[in-house]
Amino acid sequence: MQKLVVLISGTGSNLRALLEASEDAEFPARVVAIGADREADGLVLGEEFGIPTFTVPYTAYPDRDAWGDALIEQVRQWEPDLVILSGLMRLVPAGVVDAFSPYLINTHPAYLPEFPGAHGVRDALAAGVDQTGASLIVVDNSVDGGPIIAQERVPVLPGDTESTLHDRIKPVERRLLIQAVLDIANSHIDLKELTAS
Ligand code: GAR
Repeated sequence: MQKLVVLISGTGSNLRALLEASEDAEFPARVVAIGADREADGLVLGEEFGIPTFTVPYTAYPDRDAWGDALIEQVRQWEPDLVILSGLMRLVPAGVVDAFSPYLINTHPAYLPEFPGAHGVRDALAAGVDQTGASLIVVDNSVDGGPIIAQERVPVLPGDTESTLHDRIKPVERRLLIQAVLDIANSHIDLKELTAS
């Protein structure tokens, strides 16, 4: 059974989908802890699903590296096979990448390398494209530039707002994430190989 630590900043709706998938006895991975960089709404999922939570408040540390070191310490206690950034709205420092790479993955609401960064949905809308997407990547020291594990196109429809478009992207992100966790656990995806190529 693969042990997952999931890090969030927001509502954790993608995390919820992963928690629901892992209720199936056949699912080869379990979320062992949920962490956040702030008092994220999604931390309530810990109580709902009986999973421990921790918070490493970004603002409590003098700089990104110090925050990253505290995050590493918390995450390591759970001895995870895979660390998932599921809406963690912070760039993680190099120390975190070094500690967990290549078993550190990130969901992103755009078809990378298009629209990286904190506003993938807003930026796609502003660019006037007629399709965007969802991506799952291995985290490296770039901004959303790591190796792509899976991605899928999502149409932008006339009249879309950031919220309607994001709501159309998220179910795709969830499907990609759950499938990738399965594939990684079953060795159908080899993150080491993906990172080396
Ligand atoms: C997801 O769309 C995720 O891809 C995005 O935040 C959302 C979290 O939603 N992450 C980023 O934009 C990272 N750059 P959730 O809290 O409802 O799961």
